[in-house]
Amino acid sequence: MFESLQMAPADPILGLAEVFRNDPRSDKINLSVGVFQDENGCTPILDVVKEAERALLDAETTKDYLPIPGEAEFGRSVRALLFGVDSNLSSGGRAVTAHAPGGTGALRIAADLLARHRHGSRLWVSAPTWPNHPGVFGAAGLETLSYPWYDATSGTVDQERFLEALRAIPANDVVVLHGCCHNPTGADADRDTWGQITTIAAERGWLPMVDFAYQGFGDGLDVDALGVRLLAQRVPELLVASSFSKNFGLYRERVGALTLVAAKPAAAEVALSQLKLVIRASYSNPPAHGGLVVSRVLGDLALRARWEDQVTAMRNRLNQMRQMLARHLADLKVGRDFSFLDKGRGMFALTGLSSEQVGVLRDTFGVYLIGSGRINVAGLTPANIDRVASAIAAVL
Ligand SMILES: Cc1ncc(COP(=O)(O)O)c(C=O)c1O
Repeated sequence: MFESLQMAPADPILGLAEVFRNDPRSDKINLSVGVFQDENGCTPILDVVKEAERALLDAETTKDYLPIPGEAEFGRSVRALLFGVDSNLSSGGRAVTAHAPGGTGALRIAADLLARHRHGSRLWVSAPTWPNHPGVFGAAGLETLSYPWYDATSGTVDQERFLEALRAIPANDVVVLHGCCHNPTGADADRDTWGQITTIAAERGWLPMVDFAYQGFGDGLDVDALGVRLLAQRVPELLVASSFSKNFGLYRERVGALTLVAAKPAAAEVALSQLKLVIRASYSNPPAHGGLVVSRVLGDLALRARWEDQVTAMRNRLNQMRQMLARHLADLKVGRDFSFLDKGRGMFALTGLSSEQVGVLRDTFGVYLIGSGRINVAGLTPANIDRVASAIAAVL
């Protein structure tokens, strides 16, 4: 069988990382990665994570399996972060949570659950979206379609076309929404738009599924959850896939969660029993380490306060880099309005540069973007931002 297989294409982003590594230029700049970096170009381990890990190492008495949906305490912490500590959804009832291997794992078990129990249901994703969405949903056998999201001219959400498309989606389908910090555009729905999304979801009856990979990286842990909270208040059923890769810097530990909100507590309990079957047949039960770290940090007042400060620092750095790049490009009078960079949120932005311009940036200036023109603003630093702005001005 293996003899007859065709070579699969290399991952476009990871393939580029390899080219970057082999580039001998000492002043090369990598804006193509998908992780947070500090001003020294490092993806740090948060010190609250280190501290929780040390405490766990001492306190841990067994490596016995976790329950299929993970520890109840982890679920409560995740829901409190999603819905707010005072929400009755945090203590359970209508909402149940399964600890999953990363946001990707959460999306996949959601997709498997949908494939088993929502026959004929199609998934709608934004155009453009995280390139792994169609892969993950397709692997569960689901058909993926796209709705308009982004207006490349203004660099913001194309409200009218987006909302019009939502109104036409049939009740049996599922609409995947980025909770905040849209990947790859950085263009998010504002409060009013979330209100309209919620109204349309309630009226049309399609199922919203929020992919929430960047809580805290936009405007704050609570503000970023606005969309999730509005939906949870007004629609009968909701799925939320959380990732703790970015906001805890726990990428390789694979920690995420799927939270399912049902109309009634009894339905949530039944749905969880079905989700457990899906998990059992997939990875059986979740990897413990990352989830235990998250629970420990969120459950300890002092650690949690310090974690919130660290998330704020990461967010402030991203927003500062967005602001600085927009200002530098305006000062260079590049003949294109880049103010959308500053209005956007999260790690990513679409520069609007063509693949040819991206090629020149890489070959001539040693500035690496992915082919779509997406940049990770976390690759910018006060030390390299001048050079990036000048290189972009030159290719324009
Ligand atoms: C939009 C989106 N969803 C989900 C994920 C998955 O995150 P994880 O690494 O936790 O699987 C990512 C990661 O880049 C993402 O950007």
